[in-house]
Amino acid sequence: MSDTRPSSRLPGFYRIRLDERQTELARQVGLSPDELALLASGGISAADADHIVENVVGVYALPLGLGLNFRINGVDRLIPMAVEEPSVVAAASNAARMARAGGGFAAQADESIMIAQIELRDVENTAAATAALQAARAEIVAKADATLPQLLAFGGGCRDLEIRTLPDRRLVVHLHIDCRDAMGANMVNTVAEALAPRLAELARGRIGLRILSNLADRRLVRATTRVPFAALAGDKTAVAGEVLAKAIAGASRFAEDDPYRAATHNKGIMNGVDPVVIATGNDWRGIEAGAHAYAARDGRYRPLATWRVEGDALAGRLEMPMALGTVGGTLAVHPGARLALRVLGVGRARELAEIVASVGLAQNLAALRALAGEGIQRGHMALHRRAVGEG
Ligand code: MEV
Repeated sequence: MSDTRPSSRLPGFYRIRLDERQTELARQVGLSPDELALLASGGISAADADHIVENVVGVYALPLGLGLNFRINGVDRLIPMAVEEPSVVAAASNAARMARAGGGFAAQADESIMIAQIELRDVENTAAATAALQAARAEIVAKADATLPQLLAFGGGCRDLEIRTLPDRRLVVHLHIDCRDAMGANMVNTVAEALAPRLAELARGRIGLRILSNLADRRLVRATTRVPFAALAGDKTAVAGEVLAKAIAGASRFAEDDPYRAATHNKGIMNGVDPVVIATGNDWRGIEAGAHAYAARDGRYRPLATWRVEGDALAGRLEMPMALGTVGGTLAVHPGARLALRVLGVGRARELAEIVASVGLAQNLAALRALAGEGIQRGHMALHRRAVGEG
């Protein structure tokens, strides 16, 4: 990556005035006066909003903070976070600073494969239907591709099909659609509806539901980090860092062994994930649905990120579905969402997924460090007070 990218280390950023922060961001990213004005106006006008949903009477804004210190796959990123909860932005920035000492975050996203589900009911013979559908694989994939000429032009399209059996003579056909840089909901639903009649014919069954699955387990992202003991300790000694690391690994075990704790642990991850998903105009309900379904994929609700002591560092690892777009959808109509992508400096959906996963992992680290150490009220709220100039 070229070194024209902004630095994500902006020491003292929380101490300067709001207008100075806006100017600094504009300088770092090269924002135009119009883009800068968007920051003050909530990112979208009521007139634009009127074209997005129904019965519009106004717009509803959230605070937009900048997550700092992030280094992801060797690149510095300024993270726009739309969130109302105090301390989230400060905590993410603080954790990212610790992670940075060990090289930051390494993340890797799968291809942008979404699942189109076509439910077939009253199938005469599910085994024979499965065989017939398998035999017609090439025809089905070609038909799916034919419904998405624009996606094909961008290198996407139908990659595979999978057939699952449900009770009561039902089959579910999954079409795996590579949506490239789009989240893909509209395209996937279009394919599902277009293919259903032929699939029902092949299976000798009736058409049921035709819709994407939010359990996007073909579109996973993984993020890892290694935080050296000394960085984890902050001002204290590496020995104190080791004690903290062990306590954080213990907090991870608690979440691994107890679904009640895992829910809260994952909520802390979503504290980092959702603000970036929202700021970039993506469907956070879809991300939430996918995250929790994935967390429970083996029948037991589990943490999306885990932590272990490894040598002289605390190692964290997160894996979750991440169906995000950097084109189409809300982005086409929401100037504030486009601005957030500019601030992030991303073009590809997979790159955005890698960033979001890293922010989720950072947020989890921040929460566990506070919980395993001085407690959330002292730890996080002190960060918040410092950031807003009260402490
Ligand atoms: C609060 O919004 C999030 C936490 O509860 C997460 C956690 O407990 O890991 C602090």
